[in-house]
Amino acid sequence: MHLAVGPLRADGYHELNTVYHAISLFDELTARAGDTLALTMEGEGAGTLALDETNLIIRAARALAARARVPAHARLHLRKTIPLAAGLAGGSADAAATLLACDLLWGTGMSREELAEVGATLGSDVPFLLHGGTALGTGHGESVSPILARPTTWHWVVALADGGLSTPEVYGKLDALRDSPFPPKALSDADDLMSALRQRDPAVLGAALGNDLQPAAIALRPALSEVLEAGREAGALASLVSGSGPTCVFLAADAKDAERIAAALDAAGVCREAVTARGPMPGARVT
Ligand code: C5P
Repeated sequence: MHLAVGPLRADGYHELNTVYHAISLFDELTARAGDTLALTMEGEGAGTLALDETNLIIRAARALAARARVPAHARLHLRKTIPLAAGLAGGSADAAATLLACDLLWGTGMSREELAEVGATLGSDVPFLLHGGTALGTGHGESVSPILARPTTWHWVVALADGGLSTPEVYGKLDALRDSPFPPKALSDADDLMSALRQRDPAVLGAALGNDLQPAAIALRPALSEVLEAGREAGALASLVSGSGPTCVFLAADAKDAERIAAALDAAGVCREAVTARGPMPGARVT
């Protein structure tokens, strides 16, 4: 919903003030007992995504096993719907699901906070994906506090793109854009967005949404401007790049409006596919 990016830190991360919001797009991870650690997958990115020790799911299982001092033995299967390198934190969602599933399978009995600590070593967004809902993220995104607001469902359209964008490249592009001719930017707060969330009016929320990474994502993928413009023309209350892109998200007034905007985006032929979603949704959970 909001991604304010501060200066680059000495550890290679940027200081963030971000408002995370979990929507109804999800992957499914199955964990079964096994003699070794093995991962298979189907769906989005199958055949492209490496399933070896570099995979975030394998790294999550190994990190949990090391912390709990148990053997990392499991047969894991991923049914993937969230596209790869899309700016939707799909990899982080899979890592969060792995921590939860392996914790249950191995009976390690860790609290959500302990799992979040392990998650933070895997990726900035993993602790949020264990929480879900709508939450403020600070630090490099790993420090998460839930935002308490009266329950409201927000309706979104998600324009999926062909091909991904590399998160480090998008952050790097932002640094380059800021250095010339702009000076490094101070970190802005999320106060306007927090107050908009409390008002429960989609038009008010739409005006408060923002993403500092958007100009960098557009600089690397200029066609994203057309996707955002098509959403504005279709009457979306807000059009913005999601995370580091290239997925674009649009706020709709209600579920019917979301269907209409998705159909308009599909008809404009500016994205691979436009799907509707709602939020907030829970984070990783056992089904
Ligand atoms: O934490 P995560 O693995 O998602 O980060 C991927 C990369 O994105 C980092 O290595 C860094 O280059 C960039 N990043 C950043 N500042 C953040 C989060 C990520 O520069 N707050």
